[in-house]
Amino acid sequence: MKTPYGNRILITGASSGIGRAAAELFAAAGWTVFAASRSPRESDSASVLPVTMDVTSEESVRAGVAYIEEKGGVGVVLHCAGYGIAGAAEDTPDADARAQFEVNYFGTLRVNRFVLPHMRERGRGLAIMMGSVAGRLPLPYQSHYSASKYAIDSYTESLRMEGRQFGLRACLVEPGDTATGFTSARKMCTPEGSPYADMCARAVARMAHDEEHGAPASKPAAACLKLAGQSNPPVRVTVGLPYKMVITLHRLLPARWSEAILGGLYG
Ligand SMILES: NC(=O)c1ccc[n+]([C@@H]2O[C@H](COP(=O)([O-])OP(=O)(O)OC[C@H]3O[C@@H](n4cnc5c(N)ncnc54)[C@H](OP(=O)(O)O)[C@@H]3O)[C@@H](O)[C@H]2O)c1
Repeated sequence: MKTPYGNRILITGASSGIGRAAAELFAAAGWTVFAASRSPRESDSASVLPVTMDVTSEESVRAGVAYIEEKGGVGVVLHCAGYGIAGAAEDTPDADARAQFEVNYFGTLRVNRFVLPHMRERGRGLAIMMGSVAGRLPLPYQSHYSASKYAIDSYTESLRMEGRQFGLRACLVEPGDTATGFTSARKMCTPEGSPYADMCARAVARMAHDEEHGAPASKPAAACLKLAGQSNPPVRVTVGLPYKMVITLHRLLPARWSEAILGGLYG
């Protein structure tokens, strides 16, 4: 398969969920996949090469990318490493909010900081960031998760403008509820005695239900495969018609209306 960036990809967060589905999909489409995570899965496919990489560790990312370069490098990086915290905006401990950004935001930046120079030298490359519908439409009790995805959204737009002159492209995939390990990996951050505890638990139970009954991970993975075939990919792709509609409505409706609807659903 001929693509604008070659057919070699680094996928972070490839041991589970969207990253794992993407690794399988790209491999099936003839790509060589460097499948990275903190605990990479054994691979029985010659085209899926496991890489141990903790995106919060400079040393780990440096070593992982050095190994990938030794093997010939990649033309596409897909950032699926991530997790979510839940808790009230007011009383989530700083350490939990920082840890959230350390993986979802700084983890993405760190991997790009090591990978993009090689792509720039080769004159082409694509970085696909993992956003979320929550990054356009913040949810109650998900403020810090939503903020980490908002941050990735604006980072992507800037990176995109800066990298273009060097043949680099950047874009963002925004899944809605997707059935993955994300739900069980969610970290609850409700300090003892929080006045928000009961409401938060109810809202998160509803979100967990929606995720568990959400789209299969192959859906966002397919969106990523499509983007990797485009020489001029769009800045962001929202996965699924209902979510496209929700984001459009959010943009068009007066803010108070959106707030009342979302507050009614989860507040
Ligand atoms: N599921 C949803 O409803 C949904 C919706 C919108 C956006 N997203 C986003 O999609 C991305 C993928 O999530 P998912 O749903 O596929 O969840 P998942 O099944 O829990 O997968 C998360 C992946 O991230 C890896 N990971 C976590 N911390 C890491 C770290 N410090 N360094 C390296 N890898 C790390 C995990 O592997 P190890 O533990 O082995 O490292 C795992 O492979 C996340 O950014 C998430 O925010 C998910």
